[in-house]
Amino acid sequence: MGQLAIIGGSGFAAMPELEIVETRQTTTRWGDPSAPLVHGRLAGQDVLFLPRHGEGHRIPPHRVNYRANIQALSDAGVERVIALAAVGGITADCVPLALCIPDNLIDYTHGRGSTFYDEAGGEVVHVDFSWPFSAGLRRLLLRAAGDTGIEVLDGGVYAATQGPRLETAAEISRLERDGCDIVGMTAMPEAALARERGIAYATLAFVVNWAAGKSDSEIGMEEINANLGRCAQTVIRLLQRAVVLPADD
Ligand code: HPA
Repeated sequence: MGQLAIIGGSGFAAMPELEIVETRQTTTRWGDPSAPLVHGRLAGQDVLFLPRHGEGHRIPPHRVNYRANIQALSDAGVERVIALAAVGGITADCVPLALCIPDNLIDYTHGRGSTFYDEAGGEVVHVDFSWPFSAGLRRLLLRAAGDTGIEVLDGGVYAATQGPRLETAAEISRLERDGCDIVGMTAMPEAALARERGIAYATLAFVVNWAAGKSDSEIGMEEINANLGRCAQTVIRLLQRAVVLPADD
């Protein structure tokens, strides 16, 4: 079974349930990852943990060095990544506190280092990305949800926006017309880089607010932070089950 890593997003700068074995500061040809890699045990299983926004959540989504993060995980032998992502809900089922395991995405980001095949005179490679999330890892997460009785939305389209500002109501209407169900700022280029490195990648998204224009109130950081806290224990319980299940790929 390939080495599994969890990339923590907002609300998961650290994971107290993870028993830390070793913390390794690494660097890559693309620079330093967001934080030292944490080698630990979750529910008795070896996992690596990397907080995407750094220790103490200091790196905003558009400044994350996604290439260094994925390269560092690849160098550490990681073959599977479960990426945690706080998102806004666009379509009716994606209510605050819902968990969603998306099955596709649309990339609206720009100006991020989005490929490892970036060197003049280097190899030109076009990876298949029709289905950006690993079917096997998605099945694993769905099985873990079933086993633990945690309700999750199976499928959905993740809109990756640039941030760090939230979207306008008109932008969210456009994303909805495009077929998006949830909106976040980090799945791209993370998912594409994982694909380029041959790493199976799936997102476990948790809805922390209605997307812009989908409720009568403004979106406040207090609401987002409160909902992050409310989702945390459920997400951890799901992960604790997922890591003990045999790989399904
Ligand atoms: N938009 C983009 N990213 C997000 C949101 C949102 O509404 N909520 C949490 N991450």
